[in-house]
Amino acid sequence: MGKALEGVKILDFTHVQSGPTCTQLLAWFGADVIKVERPGEGDITRGQLRDIPDVDSLYFTMLNHNKRSITLDAKNAKGKQVLEALVRHCDVLVENFAPGVLDRMGFSWERIQQLNPRMIVASVKGFGPGPYEDCKVYENVAQCAGGAASTTGFDDGPPLVTGAQIGDSGTGLHLALGIVTALFQRATTGTGQRVLCAMQDGVLNLCRVKLRDQQRLERNGKLTEYPQYPHGAFGEAVPRAGNASGGGQPGWILKCKGWETDPNAYIYFITQAPVWEAICKVIGKEEWITHPDYAKPAQRLPRLKEIFDAIERWTMTKTKFEAMDILNNYDIPCGPILSMKELAYEPSLRETGTVVEVDHPKRGKYLTVGNPIKLSASPSDVKRSPLLGEHTDEILAELGFGSEQIAAMRAEKAV
Ligand code: COA
Repeated sequence: MGKALEGVKILDFTHVQSGPTCTQLLAWFGADVIKVERPGEGDITRGQLRDIPDVDSLYFTMLNHNKRSITLDAKNAKGKQVLEALVRHCDVLVENFAPGVLDRMGFSWERIQQLNPRMIVASVKGFGPGPYEDCKVYENVAQCAGGAASTTGFDDGPPLVTGAQIGDSGTGLHLALGIVTALFQRATTGTGQRVLCAMQDGVLNLCRVKLRDQQRLERNGKLTEYPQYPHGAFGEAVPRAGNASGGGQPGWILKCKGWETDPNAYIYFITQAPVWEAICKVIGKEEWITHPDYAKPAQRLPRLKEIFDAIERWTMTKTKFEAMDILNNYDIPCGPILSMKELAYEPSLRETGTVVEVDHPKRGKYLTVGNPIKLSASPSDVKRSPLLGEHTDEILAELGFGSEQIAAMRAEKAV
């Protein structure tokens, strides 16, 4: 079966996490992704957080599946020649260098357009135009600057970053959509364009509901579904909401049987209005079904702590999986807190290809997260990441360089 992006050629000039996330997705959809790396060193993540000496790290392998690797020194004249050939050959150049790096290499937008007017140039930067546009940015900086950290954590604690890589992988996802959109538009215009995703913007986009709450707070002085209501104080900005639900149906994380020794023996419980009666029956509080303090959602809001305490007295008598089974019988929305270990060995995730075992010539078998986006006519199979420069000769030959030219490049360490 063909792949959705078959025939699309990507000059992958990305490194670390945000850019590689994007190009890995494009590769899974069938694009030919040519990863350009510095000779001898490659993407810095090949050597970061290594679990096996001298073997590409999981950090690298898990972000660079289905790609080919070519090494070239973009600061060497012969290396530049190869890069120019790649710009002519490819449809999209993806990069996430620090601001100004591509220009300093001699590959400004104007120069790229001269070489290939159809080329789409897609970039991740930390910030968009403005006071911080020249700054280098990593994941947690973006989480802090994009509104996630100030709204994550508990009211009496410091701002918190989250384990989900919303700054890096989140922005990579945004960029991938920008690229396929630009490719779609190119089909009618015939010309390329620039695609920019700033990590601050990507995080803020994912924190959209918190900007919603900022405006509600400014209008009404309170946020009735937040744990600060009704007894705590609200300041000028959206406070940290602990585990409160970001939507209109109140929720919280509750202890389950075994919580004393298992840090993940918890369940997320949502007191969705349509199933309030079922919730009351399950936890043995039938009197709340018609009680004037509890019957309606608005009456419950000032009493959420007391309500969740009562539900927790029930969840503490069940394991998180027993609670799930019982609650799902009544369509009560809930979710177990799953550890990475539980996810790694969950059979249904293996069956759908969301968790995949990959074989690598140097490290052997390892687990990775497969493509979370499933296309019925373009299924993704996960292929191991390339070794550094594994496809250099093959790609140079495709670009039309002869064996003597390649030997000269090697002698100069240009590739
Ligand atoms: N040949 C020759 N030189 C190369 C090269 C190649 N194949 N590939 C990279 N380089 C050089 C660049 O030209 C640059 O040199 P210069 O500064 O002399 O112009 C140099 O490598 C370093 O690039 P830079 O992007 O500054 O890397 P860094 O390791 O110092 O910074 C980041 C890393 C991630 C902080 C930075 O790239 C960044 O802010 N990127 C944008 C935001 C982003 O994506 N952040 C998330 C990363 S997950």
